[in-house]
Parts: sequence; structure tokens; C-alpha cells
Amino acid sequence: MTTRDDCRRRDESDELAPLRDWFTLPEGVIYLDGNSLGPVSRGVRRRVNEVLDHEWATGLVRSWNSAGWMEMPSRLGDQIAPLIGARPGEVVVADSLTILLAKLIGGALALRPERHVVLTDAVNFHSDLYIARAMAARAGRPVEVRAIDRADLAGELGPEVALVLLTHVDFRTGEMLDVAGLTAAVHACGALMLWDFAHSAGAVPLDVTGAHVDFAAGCGYKYLNAGPGSPAFLYVRRSWQGVLENPLPGWLGHARPFDFEPTYEPAPGVRTFVTSSPSVLALAAMEGALEIFSYVSLDQLRTKSLALTDLFIDLIAERVPGVFEIVTPRDHARRASQVSLRHPESYAFVQALIERGVIGDFRDPDISRFGFAPLYLRYVDVYDAVEQMVAVLEGEEHRVARFAVRNPVT
Ligand SMILES: Cc1ncc(COP(=O)(O)O)c(C=O)c1O
Repeated sequence: MTTRDDCRRRDESDELAPLRDWFTLPEGVIYLDGNSLGPVSRGVRRRVNEVLDHEWATGLVRSWNSAGWMEMPSRLGDQIAPLIGARPGEVVVADSLTILLAKLIGGALALRPERHVVLTDAVNFHSDLYIARAMAARAGRPVEVRAIDRADLAGELGPEVALVLLTHVDFRTGEMLDVAGLTAAVHACGALMLWDFAHSAGAVPLDVTGAHVDFAAGCGYKYLNAGPGSPAFLYVRRSWQGVLENPLPGWLGHARPFDFEPTYEPAPGVRTFVTSSPSVLALAAMEGALEIFSYVSLDQLRTKSLALTDLFIDLIAERVPGVFEIVTPRDHARRASQVSLRHPESYAFVQALIERGVIGDFRDPDISRFGFAPLYLRYVDVYDAVEQMVAVLEGEEHRVARFAVRNPVT
């Protein structure tokens, strides 16, 4: 049996433990939802206040030049690049993830005009499915989006496939896919590979260069902790730059925005994927949020993340055997940084748990989802969270009527 003291000892010898102090976490809360919205860090506060009080308040419009606001999309892209194994100049920050996927899907379809299929996962995030279909419908030729069982991918690949769009980590189950292996299979049939790294960037080491990934995009507000609705990032492999076109061009992706030319001329490199004025306050939050990643390696984060999720899975099996189906793979190679539990009363269970200060979330139809962000979670938090789960179940608190009422955000 694992005890709370065992967990406390693990925290005492955890080299990442001091990083928790960077974050504001409310008293009495165990935060297991950093895979949905990361918490505020002191880097964010510092940088946002600096932009508010100095760059904007004092510098006014001059700050576009003097504070380097114009370069923020590329500057932040270069800070994110090492987190996904990209090289400088291959990542840019802009828009939201769905919009960046639209740009990449639209651009990629134009690169394979003789092919007419986009393959994706039937249980991919719904926004990815919607935007893939919308961009296929606007490809200028008939293009079919085939949403398949990802286990059948190898059999579905063929000469008609232009693009494969997969999300690296299944948002419901937390299952992680093999980036290098799947990208190689996709390339072997002559198709292009686009990865959605929403649930992996900042939590799992990635190597887009080694895996020869063509295109990728990911969220800022999950494990990167850049704030609610923060901009997203986009990766275009260097060899595709100057070839892949932005189907939603705007003045800020022009080679010379302030020449006000009537005809679009793409800026060199990945910058052409910026359409509009950068959202400076949101980018400032992201810049501050990324500071912490210069003090820790993704390998360190990954080691602790696996230890936290192992501990959680073991404690669930020990303390409430048979109550939940643990749908997240136990195999480390197939597990990201979340653990999902299937239970018919999951929605009410998560609500009851939140009332006890343990914040996770619910994903339709029956998944209780818990994220384990290694930057700020302690082993005792995992222990205490499971004890609260035991208390909810023993007291049948999840059967209380008010917990069945669905909130707009689950
Ligand atoms: C896998 C995945 N793709 C896409 C999105 C959509 O992101 P955005 O709201 O930035 O468009 C999300 C949001 O959670 C997601 O989890």
C-alpha cells in the first residue's frame, strides 16, 4: 500500500518541486486540469504587467517598433521550437489552433492537387473534423474527408490520400500515438502529415525534425500555461517554406506590410502564416509563460509526468478497485500526461470532486479526465486527490441531484 508519507518523501527528493512556487494555485485546490487550462505563473504576471504599464501605457504606438511587438509571433515561435524539436524559423505563434489547422489543411491540399482524400481519426477533436471538412469543401476540387478508425490507418493509406490529420494525444482517453512511425507510413504513400499537438506540447518531448513531420500546430493554453484563449503555434518544416501557401493571407504576412501594396507577396519563411495584427497582451502572457521552460528540460518533465500518472493509476487500482475502467494506456510509450477514467456517472462524479477542491473535467459520454502537469503538481496532491475520490464514492456524493445539472463547459 502506498502511504501519504511515501508521497511526501518523493516530493522532498523531487528536483522539480521548487518550480511549483512559480504558479498561483488557490489554497485548498488540487488542480488536475492543466491539460485544459494551465494556471497563472509569475512569468505571465511580470510580462503582462510590463507590457501594460510600460510598453503600452508609455510607449503607445511606438512600441510596435521599440518593444519589438511586430516580431513577437516569430520570437515566441522560436521559443516554442525546442519544445517540439523544431529549428529556429520553423514555428510561428498566431490565431487559435482551429484557424492554424485551417491554414495548414488548405495549404497542404494545394500541394497535392492530383489527390482527393484527407484521412483523419473518427474520434479526433470535433473542431479538427469540422475545419478539415470545411477546408476540403473549399479546395477548388472534390475532396473527401475520411474519418476512420485510426487502428486501420495503414490499410487506408493509398495514392488518393493527399493529407493525414491526426491529434497526437487522444483528448478523451489520453492515448498517445507514434509520431515518427505514422509520419513515415504516411510519407511512404506520398501523402503529407499534419499533427495536432494540443495535448502534448509542453508535456511530452517531441521531435518534429527527427520524425520528418511536414506540418503541425498546437495550443498555448494547456501545458504551455499561456492563458485562456491564448494564441496557438504552427510549425512548417523548413523544406516546405516558400512552397506551402497561406490560404488566408493578410497584411501582416506580407513581405512588406507597410508598403500597403495591393497584391500579396508572402513574407519569407513561416511568417507568411501570420494574417493579422498580433494580439500583444495575449502574446505577452505567452512570453511570460514560456520563461519556466528554460529552467527545465522536457525529459525531466516527462519523467515526473509518468511517475505522477503511474502513481495515480496504482492508487486508483488500490483504493477503488473495479469502480472505474482506466482507459488510458498503462504502457508509457502510449501514455501522455493525463489519465481518463470511464464511469457511467462521470459527470456528477467530477462535479462532486470539484466541490471537494479536486479539479478535473468531464468528456462526453462517460469520461472523468485528469491532467498531471509536472511543473506544479506534487506526489501528495495525487495521493490527496485519490482520497477525495474515495470520499465522494463512499458518501455517494455524486448521486446528489445538483451535480447532475450540466454546465456549458464540462
Ligand atoms: C485536440 C484539439 N484540437 C483543437 C482544439 C481547438 O483549439 P482552439 O480553441 O484554439 O481552436 C482543441 C481545444 O481544446 C483540442 O484539444
